[in-house]
Amino acid sequence: MKILVVGSGGREHALVWKLGLSDEVREIYCSPGNAGIAAAAKTRLLPKLSLRQLLDFAVDQDVDLAVVGPEASLVDGIGDLFRRSGVPLVGPSAEAARLEGSKAFAKEFMARHQIPTAAYRVFDDPSAAERALRSGLFEFPLVLKADGLAAGKGVLICADLQEAVAALDRIMIARRFGAAGDRLVIEEFLQGEEASFIVLADGAGNVVPMVPSQDHKQIFDGGRGPNTGGMGAYSMDGLLSPDLRRRILDQVILPTVDGMNQEGRPFAGILYAGLMLTEDGPQVLEYNVRFGDPEAQVILPRLRSDLAALLLQAARGDLASTQAEWTSEAAVCVVAAAKGYPGSYPKGLEISGLAKTDRMENLVVFHAGTSRVDGRYVTSGGRVLGVTALAPSLDEAVRRAYSGLNEIHFDGIYYRRDIAYRRLSQAERNS
Ligand code: AMP
Ligand code: GLY
Repeated sequence: MKILVVGSGGREHALVWKLGLSDEVREIYCSPGNAGIAAAAKTRLLPKLSLRQLLDFAVDQDVDLAVVGPEASLVDGIGDLFRRSGVPLVGPSAEAARLEGSKAFAKEFMARHQIPTAAYRVFDDPSAAERALRSGLFEFPLVLKADGLAAGKGVLICADLQEAVAALDRIMIARRFGAAGDRLVIEEFLQGEEASFIVLADGAGNVVPMVPSQDHKQIFDGGRGPNTGGMGAYSMDGLLSPDLRRRILDQVILPTVDGMNQEGRPFAGILYAGLMLTEDGPQVLEYNVRFGDPEAQVILPRLRSDLAALLLQAARGDLASTQAEWTSEAAVCVVAAAKGYPGSYPKGLEISGLAKTDRMENLVVFHAGTSRVDGRYVTSGGRVLGVTALAPSLDEAVRRAYSGLNEIHFDGIYYRRDIAYRRLSQAERNS
């Protein structure tokens, strides 16, 4: 098979790495990729291309399958474009990608289909939103969300009225997230553990669930500070009990897929439910219409089945009798970021230690924001690397990931020291 992967982050490196392990896969093209992806087996980088150019390339080269990492291309209609030309693609149509592209759409969809989610209101007018905030209608803390795509950063948790008014200003008046802030969702604050539940969906009502994972969205240890794209993740079977897993499938995933079908926008591709596991059961915080990043970096190393075959079946609408096999090992990914992220940060800093981590067992360093200059790896993004370890137990995976990180240096390297720690201390409490 020849596969085209679209995107340039740690998620895409994990995809390319896993696809490269398949005997079925002869060649992988990645646009625009990064320096780690350029060095991956069977892989060639393409420049950054428009959706049309990507399609032309896929048709010219007889690409068998396209896999799209980032949400923006899906919201912009790459799924429709490829499907119209008969090139199999993993990813939803623009209509179905609205589940991620508009938080207001997602909330209204969930309300229509009784899918559990936080109580909410949608506002188009900033003064109406401010009046509602000042009316005493809401309890604090409260969550304000820009409606559109904001790279995981458009969600602001507000402790009191003053913070909420400031957040409203940031989103709708100062328009820090651009047109994403045309509409505002105000949402009840939910408490509990978070979990990412991701499935492959074939658009015909069939899903293949992946193993569960948990992201760490805030920049600082202990879950403090602003939200980022994700600072680390882990995946292990014990994250969800079999009962909870069943409830998530029955109350969230299947009603979502069925609801989208009923509404004439079938969902084919990767469906990601970001969940809060509350005392009243799982509630949806958000949908994504693609793999999570860093979640992909802990999920894909646990996959035993052939990823290329699975994705091709999903793209063909043919998952009815497909199952995926997973190792019971735990995986942990710690993201190394540039100093200043998720705000502004320097680029072009030399990265050292990668030759050492290459030789470490059960450890893979996925590149996110890297490029290669004069034979050296340098930073080129906020999230720079995802250091991922696989081990029979979660503590061992944590130890391995951090021992890998100890070998890696660049000026101002920053990473959270507590990835998976909450789960570790819980396991200790329970033993
Ligand atoms: P989202 O992009 O909507 O998933 O939001 C990003 C992060 O904000 C989530 O992973 C949660 O940590 C937090 N968050 C979002 N919505 C809520 C909510 N209703 N209650 C509590 N935390 C939330
Ligand atoms: N890690 C969260 C996301 O990919 O949106």
